[in-house]
Amino acid sequence: MTRKKIGVAVIGFGWMGQAHTRSYLRIPTLFPERDYDPELIIISDNLQERVDEAVESFGFREGTTDWNVAVNHPDVDVVCVCAPNMLHEPIAIAAAAAGKHVFCEKPVGGTPEQTVRIEAASRAAGVITGVGYNYRWAPLVQYAKQLIEDGTLGDITNYNGRFFTMYGSDPMGLLSWRFQLDGAGHGVSSDILSHSIDLAHMLVGPIEKVVGTGHTYIPDRPIPQPGGTHYDLGSPEDPTGPVENEDYFGAMVKFENGARGTFEASRTIVGPESQCAFEIYGTKGSLKWNLETMNQLQLNLVGDKARGYTTVYAGDRYPYHGNFVPGDANSIGYEDLKVIEDYEFLSSVAAGRQHEPGFAEAIDYVSVQAALLQSWESERWEPVQRLA
Ligand SMILES: NC(=O)c1ccc[n+]([C@@H]2O[C@H](COP(=O)([O-])OP(=O)(O)OC[C@H]3O[C@@H](n4cnc5c(N)ncnc54)[C@H](O)[C@@H]3O)[C@@H](O)[C@H]2O)c1
Repeated sequence: MTRKKIGVAVIGFGWMGQAHTRSYLRIPTLFPERDYDPELIIISDNLQERVDEAVESFGFREGTTDWNVAVNHPDVDVVCVCAPNMLHEPIAIAAAAAGKHVFCEKPVGGTPEQTVRIEAASRAAGVITGVGYNYRWAPLVQYAKQLIEDGTLGDITNYNGRFFTMYGSDPMGLLSWRFQLDGAGHGVSSDILSHSIDLAHMLVGPIEKVVGTGHTYIPDRPIPQPGGTHYDLGSPEDPTGPVENEDYFGAMVKFENGARGTFEASRTIVGPESQCAFEIYGTKGSLKWNLETMNQLQLNLVGDKARGYTTVYAGDRYPYHGNFVPGDANSIGYEDLKVIEDYEFLSSVAAGRQHEPGFAEAIDYVSVQAALLQSWESERWEPVQRLA
């Protein structure tokens, strides 16, 4: 069977750039039903050694330290933006202007204003867009969506979402771009809270109004050498610099369907390690999911004689799981979600249809984020007004 080729450029070859590249390499062996083949055309990173590694070990045809060269390459159909947040705007807008479809890691912009400009430029250019809200694709999250859509949980009354991660919990954690305004934009409200609220949007629907507050717990961190990541540690002798954005954000919300919700995101918390989690309560039952145990869902339905939460194990009867392993309770992992994400996005590109989650869904999120930032300042409930 002859499949069409989709030429890919990846911009930024750190954690996410490498994860997406491994996805493109794995798609042909995991998704025999696909009607395209990804081709690794060009990698761009500002560090020459990362460009070399991408060409030598991952098989990109070419490499460059100038992302402009990559986004304008004639053989590139899709640009995958994996650079620090505040670089997303120039890269994504240049890619769209060159007629390339754009997959952008979350947050699409480091600020809501940037996301609005990126979405407008991509829409005007008529390109297909995708966002790295990868937790949507966990098989049991998809199953939770089905249970809500088919009414198994009844009417949703309340929702608790959180993203608690330890990556900044050690005060010796380096002052990487994530902690700086010109690298990241906002802190956890741009970074991990976007995942939690995107999941809630997918599962429960739009949010009508919010009240929220943020805080920075660790005001200074050791300055990193080039290439250091947010998981690396410095030492007390290192020079330090100020953390310029928030470590924590907490929110209470009212959904348009009347459900109430609470959200918390922290990158300095001690205890939880990668707790992207939600609990959803309805009139006929409730369910809980947590990335730390992503192959399990806790389900409690009215009428169950056991009257407790039942553990549902992931398996090949849930969406996508069988592409990785057959049978029940044979687990899949974090990067498998990135493969599903990239398979789905490239399938949309191959079919010429707009993708979800795309930049429209990023606008859904930053509309909530803008209201939350406003509420942090005003210390009042604020309405969510769609930014566009
Ligand atoms: N979806 C998720 O779960 C998830 C997880 C982690 C990160 N992310 C997002 O992915 C993006 C990248 O994060 P990361 O963890 O991979 O960061 P990282 O620091 O590991 O990698 C960023 C890379 O970009 C490169 N870079 C910097 N300036 C550049 C330039 N001018 N041109 C080209 N490359 C440049 C760096 O050298 C580095 O290799 C961020 O937007 C982040 O929020 C998403």
